[in-house]
Amino acid sequence: MKNMKDRDERTTNEIKTHMSKAKSAEQTGSVFTLDEYCCFICNSYFKKKIYQSDLPVIEDIIKFQQRSGAYINASILEKVLQATKNLTKNLDGLHLENEMYQPLPDDLKNKLRSLNYKVKPNKDSRVHELEGDYFDDFYAKYSRDLDTNWIRNVQRFNELRLKKPSRILDIGCGFGLFSKIATFNGHTVECIDMKDASPILKEATKILKVKKHEFTVKKNTPLLKFKKKFDVVHASQIFFNGHASKNLWDLDDWKYFLLDLHDNILNDDGFVCLLFNREHINLKPIIVDGEELFLGNKPVQDFFKPFFSTIHGLARLENKMLSILTKKNINDACRSTIFKKRSYSLDI
Ligand SMILES: C[S@@+](CC[C@H](N)C(=O)[O-])C[C@H]1O[C@@H](n2cnc3c(N)ncnc32)[C@H](O)[C@@H]1O
Repeated sequence: MKNMKDRDERTTNEIKTHMSKAKSAEQTGSVFTLDEYCCFICNSYFKKKIYQSDLPVIEDIIKFQQRSGAYINASILEKVLQATKNLTKNLDGLHLENEMYQPLPDDLKNKLRSLNYKVKPNKDSRVHELEGDYFDDFYAKYSRDLDTNWIRNVQRFNELRLKKPSRILDIGCGFGLFSKIATFNGHTVECIDMKDASPILKEATKILKVKKHEFTVKKNTPLLKFKKKFDVVHASQIFFNGHASKNLWDLDDWKYFLLDLHDNILNDDGFVCLLFNREHINLKPIIVDGEELFLGNKPVQDFFKPFFSTIHGLARLENKMLSILTKKNINDACRSTIFKKRSYSLDI
């Protein structure tokens, strides 16, 4: 923000003020405020003219937009910097061609935030048999803390590292935030969630116009048949494996599910991204012989072990929640003994 001499002093000060609001929004995780200011600055100033001295502001906005999941906006600005060699050439008449939009517009954000007091809970709202009001309407927490949930879903989308527009199937889509982020960034998403999902989830997916199929994933039962296959199957904070119940999936149940994805759902270069829940019965981690079994039991934990992927910001011992398997991995792991023979000793 030091060198903004190409703009007049008043405009420079205006932009500085907006940027300091964006910065404090970034620091407090107020992701929608962050987006609002980024789009507002781009539309109000850069759509008219971009000056050489705007470089530090544009660089910060690119970082902010990546943090809030507006990758497509960030890439528009990155292209401007590339075409002008960081605003050192081709500056004549330089401006943004199109208006920039927030991934989650304010009207939708406000509707989602009001769901926690507008939607009447019913028996499906209580997803755990645990004492306490908190569990009467378990998913209302998504509405009360929309910012955190948005950021989590941005991180999940980021884990996929998609290089081209992809067809994604999101299983157990919840509010549909992941779908909204991926769609905003140019991907095609279809979702699955249960017919008797919590009413707040149903309302949220309507607000976000998520393309959702009502279907309950069950043991040893194939998924829906789709007209076209998918490049990615994504599921985060997985419940469909009976995670907090006495009916937790065992290894054969997972193999059935994965082979169905392999045979019927995935494109040849497709992959599966599974983010498991760490807590199980009574929403507590399962610990056996001092080892925390993130997947609930040892054979399932060992099966997925070769495919654990790092979630940045988590300690190594905690990085046993995200598994990414290509279609070939699924075939090898389920139809051969390759992965059974592998040794996992940390000494090696
Ligand atoms: C913890 S929420 C996760 C939501 C979302 N994926 C996220 O990470 O924000 C679990 C979701 O899975 C859905 N679900 C639970 N059991 C399911 C099943 N057997 N088949 C399909 N969806 C299921 C729930 O309705 C809910 O939307």
